[in-house]
Amino acid sequence: VTISHGNSRVTAVLPTGESVEVLLFGATVLSWKDGAGDEKLWLSEGSKFDGSKGVRGGIPIVFPAFGSPDPNHAATSKLPQHGFARTARWEFLGKSTSEGSSSSVKLDFGLSSDNLDEATRALWPYKFGLLYSVTLERESLTTTLVITNDGDEPFEIQTLLHTYFRVKDISSVHVTGLEDSPYTDKVDGMKPKTQASSPVTFSGETDRVYTPAKGPRHPVVISDGGKPSFRIVRDNLDQVVVWNPWTDKAESIPDFAPKDGYKNMVCVEAGSVQGWQKLDKGDAFEGAQTISLS
Ligand code: BG6
Repeated sequence: VTISHGNSRVTAVLPTGESVEVLLFGATVLSWKDGAGDEKLWLSEGSKFDGSKGVRGGIPIVFPAFGSPDPNHAATSKLPQHGFARTARWEFLGKSTSEGSSSSVKLDFGLSSDNLDEATRALWPYKFGLLYSVTLERESLTTTLVITNDGDEPFEIQTLLHTYFRVKDISSVHVTGLEDSPYTDKVDGMKPKTQASSPVTFSGETDRVYTPAKGPRHPVVISDGGKPSFRIVRDNLDQVVVWNPWTDKAESIPDFAPKDGYKNMVCVEAGSVQGWQKLDKGDAFEGAQTISLS
């Protein structure tokens, strides 16, 4: 396994060619390639890589609050959309590898309240630790986030792994595993709805927060042109957000490029974003996703 660690990025390549690249701003996975060198994630050509905003693509981490600030949740109401973890500069903590026919590599990244600038700390004044592990295997990528309360005050969090999957054509994408599941429709006034007993398909702006009826271990599968491409299994992350901005929303997002790039992406985001997870002093919350190529 080859690792390279520059000033701002860490890259790992398996002997069989699979690779992953992580930006230290946000510990954002920017690229995941299979053994043939084919990119699995979508990344906007307009992305900022300097921490001035979250990366538009790859796998940004949402923490400690999802979506636009909730005025009814005082502790997080001053935070920017999706929190600060996606823009903060993380530390690379090191790697562990297993060599041989089934090589794998795990890259660890950390962020704590001590790493934040004062302005950010003022917005959310709690002592926390985040440990994020990115594990690359031949046919899968696993991302695991462990959140600890390192202070004396309890706090409440939401978190989410905002994965942008690369697809050939959004109009022939089917997402299964969400059948009969309740969801909130963000493009229809936050209306509570229930998915039919059919896959999710796309023909316009889509922004939904699902709580899959079959639970986190039941795979959510993204098929592209009739062929399953990604299989997502979650651990302790009860929601799945499905997002595609379509034409007008893509136009309105400055760092979304090219503008017709919405045809080649779908966000299927594993998270814990319904209500809040309360962490008392010394508590930890662990959430993970494994994405397999199928
Ligand atoms: C999704 C949200 O998770 O992220 C959408 O459900 C939002 O409402 C999208 O538009 C992108 O958010 P941002 O902050 O990266 O533009």
